[in-house]
Amino acid sequence: MIRSKQVFSLVVFLFAMSGITTGSRGADLELGKALYGTCAGCHGEDAAGIAAMNAPALAGQDFAYLVRQLEHFKTGVRGEDARDVLGTQMQGMADTVADDGAVENVVAYITSLPIPASSRTIEYDKRNGAVQYNASCGACHGPGGKGNVSMNAPRLAGLDEAYLRRQYANFAQGIRGSHPDDRYGRQMQMMATMLSTDKDVDDVIGYLLSQ
Ligand code: HEC
Ligand code: HEC
Repeated sequence: MIRSKQVFSLVVFLFAMSGITTGSRGADLELGKALYGTCAGCHGEDAAGIAAMNAPALAGQDFAYLVRQLEHFKTGVRGEDARDVLGTQMQGMADTVADDGAVENVVAYITSLPIPASSRTIEYDKRNGAVQYNASCGACHGPGGKGNVSMNAPRLAGLDEAYLRRQYANFAQGIRGSHPDDRYGRQMQMMATMLSTDKDVDDVIGYLLSQ
């Protein structure tokens, strides 16, 4: 079952890639790198994220996830809620990636970068963090929060503490994932009630930062 799902998503992924390479222009890493110049000020030269800019790590995420988020920012599926100040800021940035194939080019460049090392760790209840993560999150986000392409679930390891907290809270409060076209965001929104206490949220975040 899982195997066939993985094969399926690999086929979808290769199909998406072949769509790019058989277009009038292949995914162009040089163009992507040039486009990424606009992004580096917030997300870092190595796309490892800059917590002080509230900008998460992008390296380590898969191609389809990054394309989807950029398209969602551009079309107002993400970042449209009046409470989502930082999402709205990122909408403006996504609009700068406007040329034909530009989204694929910049994402091809980002996915060519090495996976960033984990962020700073914090004190947490190690046993509870692992138990809660494995019970409520691991089935989609993969062992150790490494992401699971076949579940469309992004990598959580390597993201900074404030970003993880904000996104989890945004899903829980309906700030992210409420748009009718946000199919995977709505899936995640339903999961953002799984951790029932603040301590469980703290411990899962501690666990993810340690991965
Ligand atoms: C002014 C700072 C800034 C710039 C420049 C910027 N971003 Fe962002 N980006 C952010 C912030 C802040 C967030 C987090 C938004 C949130 O909290 O929902 C973000 C989020 C994202 C996400 C979602 C990541 C995830 O894990 O879901 C992607 C993808 C992204 N940015 C890509 C880009 C690309 C590509 C560029 C360059 C074209 C770019 N960003 C330029 C600030 C910036
Ligand atoms: C049913 C599968 C599923 C489960 C279970 C699940 N998630 Fe998710 N999660 C997703 C999907 C799919 C996305 C991507 C949504 C999108 O494309 O916008 C996501 C996105 C996220 C993000 C945003 C990451 C980013 O880069 O912006 C965070 C944080 C997150 N999940 C945390 C959790 C935590 C913590 C748990 C456990 C309490 C959990 N998730 C359980 C499917 C799941």
